[in-house]
Amino acid sequence: MDLLHQQQKQPHNFHYFRSLILNEKQLLISCNLLFLFLLLSSIVLYNIVVVTPPLQQQKQNHTNTGISGSANDNYPLQLYTEECPFLDPGFRCQQNGRRDLDYLKWRWQPRQCNLPRFSAATFLENSRNKRIVFAGDSIGRNQWESLICMIAQGVSNMSTVYEENRNPITKHKGHLSVRFQEYNFTVEYYREPYLVTIARLPKNAPKNVRGTIRVDKLHWYSLKWINADVFVFNTGHWWNEDKTIKLGFYFQEQEGINMTMNVKEAFQRSLVTWKSWVIQNINPRKSLVFFRSYSPVHYREGTWKDGGHCDINTSPETNYTRLDPEPPNNFFISKIIREIGSAKRKAYFLNITFMSEFRKDGHPSNHHEPGTPVEAPQDCSHWCLPGVPDTWNELLYAHLLTKGFRNMNK
Ligand SMILES: *[C@@H]1O[C@H](CO)[C@@H](O)[C@H](O)[C@H]1NC(C)=O
Ligand SMILES: *[C@@H]1O[C@H](CO)[C@@H](O)[C@H](O)[C@H]1NC(C)=O
Ligand SMILES: *[C@@H]1O[C@H](CO)[C@@H](O)[C@H](O)[C@H]1NC(C)=O
Ligand SMILES: *[C@@H]1O[C@H](CO)[C@@H](O)[C@H](O)[C@H]1NC(C)=O
Ligand SMILES: *[C@@H]1O[C@H](CO)[C@@H](O)[C@H](O)[C@H]1NC(C)=O
Ligand SMILES: *[C@@H]1O[C@H](CO)[C@@H](O)[C@H](O)[C@H]1NC(C)=O
Repeated sequence: MDLLHQQQKQPHNFHYFRSLILNEKQLLISCNLLFLFLLLSSIVLYNIVVVTPPLQQQKQNHTNTGISGSANDNYPLQLYTEECPFLDPGFRCQQNGRRDLDYLKWRWQPRQCNLPRFSAATFLENSRNKRIVFAGDSIGRNQWESLICMIAQGVSNMSTVYEENRNPITKHKGHLSVRFQEYNFTVEYYREPYLVTIARLPKNAPKNVRGTIRVDKLHWYSLKWINADVFVFNTGHWWNEDKTIKLGFYFQEQEGINMTMNVKEAFQRSLVTWKSWVIQNINPRKSLVFFRSYSPVHYREGTWKDGGHCDINTSPETNYTRLDPEPPNNFFISKIIREIGSAKRKAYFLNITFMSEFRKDGHPSNHHEPGTPVEAPQDCSHWCLPGVPDTWNELLYAHLLTKGFRNMNK
């Protein structure tokens, strides 16, 4: 599977407990402040000590299955397996032939604090009668599937977890909603690669225009997800020239196609549209809004379409100078989120870019789902599951705990 790329070829087919401790809250806050000093290291073994330089990578020792006395013991290496029925075939890297399995043995460890341990049972209990909505591109879907599999570990009878319309997980268009029946709780995904509307071709459009992206109009799915309790938005990978202007997809405001608006301007304009929606529709006492930052890609020696690859990467990057710089889109998103704050509303920037930059080993690469043509480009943009998006969801979980998600809407 390669949703991003498949879609590029067919542009017109458009489509995270109260663990224990009293000062968990403070811990988390300091985590957030120290986010810049996070380090990547193993699960467990050591209670993490401050390390200089600020990044350290340690591989999990397989023989370690619960050393007592450590704050972190018994934390499983993976929170679920590829057997989770809610995984796209394209994300099941082992089933697709991946034999180097070190990619499963890394865990993000913040410096000077710990993230709360993920508890599926606590997550479920806190989520009774609630809705969590993911809206965005296929990387958002990647994260959505990860979260469902993480939470499903807390359910004893898997027949009580199902897609509401009995759609298979392989349905890649539209939206999907997985219900946790015993909790009257849904985790939903809405496919909206631009978050805004992809419009019909206006009358009298210039010949080279094949479609437009309405930067002033949020995707109509917003009507469906409006009353959700948690939102996790993302967009970014589709906002480039190759997937828009070069394919004849121009940007439109109201009735007029703006032939001179470039992708960067259009992206910022669409974020303003998103901001207005949040300000007008979200009651910060009732819903939590997150916008996930850009998910890094790791194509080397070419782009995805001209032989770019990542299959040789079997361990994370250790050399800081080889990390890509902060993508401009992140600055735009964080700026818009500050503006929402200025308007006395609230949204949170879920900044996962830097931590994921190291994980050049986490992509499906050439381990495609069965039936993919051999000449298909490598996938160095999505992530194997279990894998990197699980960490994003652990962060989301920590946010939900500290922001009082449990008692919202009561
Ligand atoms: C995201 O976090 C990284 C460090 O974790 C930081 O360097 C970067 O500036 C942050 N990005 C934004 C836009 O705030
Ligand atoms: C894992 O730990 C065991 C016991 O402490 C040790 O004998 C073994 O060499 C370690 N393996 C690695 C790969 O570090
Ligand atoms: C289930 O949750 C929805 C909100 O998502 C709520 O409107 C409804 O009343 C709940 N149903 C029950 C039986 O509690
Ligand atoms: C599991 O859930 C299904 C659907 O609600 C139900 O029909 C079945 O009896 C349950 N099985 C057990 C062992 O509780
Ligand atoms: C087209 O977009 C550009 C860049 O945002 C803007 O400066 C210009 O005024 C727009 N043109 C029209 C006709 O709205
Ligand atoms: C880190 O990468 C840079 C650029 O590729 C290289 O010049 C430098 O020698 C590398 N440093 C180490 C310690 O490998």
